[in-house]
Amino acid sequence: MTHKRKKISVVGAGFVGSTCAHWAAARELGDVVLLDINEGAAKGKALDLYESSPVEQFDSRIWGSNNYQDAANSDVVIITAGLPRKPGMSRDDLLATNAKIMKEVCEGIKKNAPQAVLIVVSNPLDAMAYVAKQVTGFPRERVIGMAGVLDTARFRTFISEALNVSIKDVQAIVLGGHGDTMVPMPRHCSVGGVPLTEMIEPAQLEAIIQRTRQGGAEIVNLLKTGSAYYAPAASAVQMAEAILKDQKRILPCAVELQGEYGARNLFVGVLAKLGGGGMEKVIELKLNDNEKKMLENSMKAVEELVTALGKIQY
Ligand code: LAC
Repeated sequence: MTHKRKKISVVGAGFVGSTCAHWAAARELGDVVLLDINEGAAKGKALDLYESSPVEQFDSRIWGSNNYQDAANSDVVIITAGLPRKPGMSRDDLLATNAKIMKEVCEGIKKNAPQAVLIVVSNPLDAMAYVAKQVTGFPRERVIGMAGVLDTARFRTFISEALNVSIKDVQAIVLGGHGDTMVPMPRHCSVGGVPLTEMIEPAQLEAIIQRTRQGGAEIVNLLKTGSAYYAPAASAVQMAEAILKDQKRILPCAVELQGEYGARNLFVGVLAKLGGGGMEKVIELKLNDNEKKMLENSMKAVEELVTALGKIQY
């Protein structure tokens, strides 16, 4: 029997992965495979989620596995495998450990799901997306990092809270790497179509930008034993949905630049169009001098990580 439904594989059955599986299945984006080296965790969480389907009324098959062969024919693969941060750690401290894990995962995916679009979630995000691209050799259209949707979600949450307006009416953009150098773009943010800068005091905006930059660490410091998962998973699933339904959504994602913003072979957060072909287009913004400087600074931080990667055996 051929598979007619869309298929999503989620690699890593930790908090981010299982929450991705939950949202993808609940929205009936397709059938979902949860993969983990811990077979029991993958199978147990998948079965438990599957058994919620009669109550929640969704028609998605969900199963767990420790075998990449189960990823065959996936349309989208969301990679969440890797260690999360602990308090006091930066995302970059995860580089060596997670590069090894990423390499192994990508070899399994390349062999079994060579047509899939990859959404990379593991940290340090921009470097892990780079590893995924190197290992799979997939074109840049099919290796996309999840960072911008999460960072803008945090930015939008704080704006909506500060202005006491619906989250639905707040639009925002964040560019650059998924780290402390990320570049929130207030000039390109709006509330109900009105430029954000006309709606908010500069000091309040600056505080929100700082909080957005530290958004991941704020959660890590509260949880103490891991990092965020609801908002990261929701963000990855939104990207998956845009691809699976060919929505042509304009979302900030980590994409391998090929000349945009003057960079090459570097994964950086930019605005992109996501549709059935994966990352279908990079939308290059006209930046002012200050924005350019901040983006260059952020790209330099990503470049340093990639250079550090080159010195690691993974
Ligand atoms: C965060 C981690 C997952 O931003 O990067 O929460």
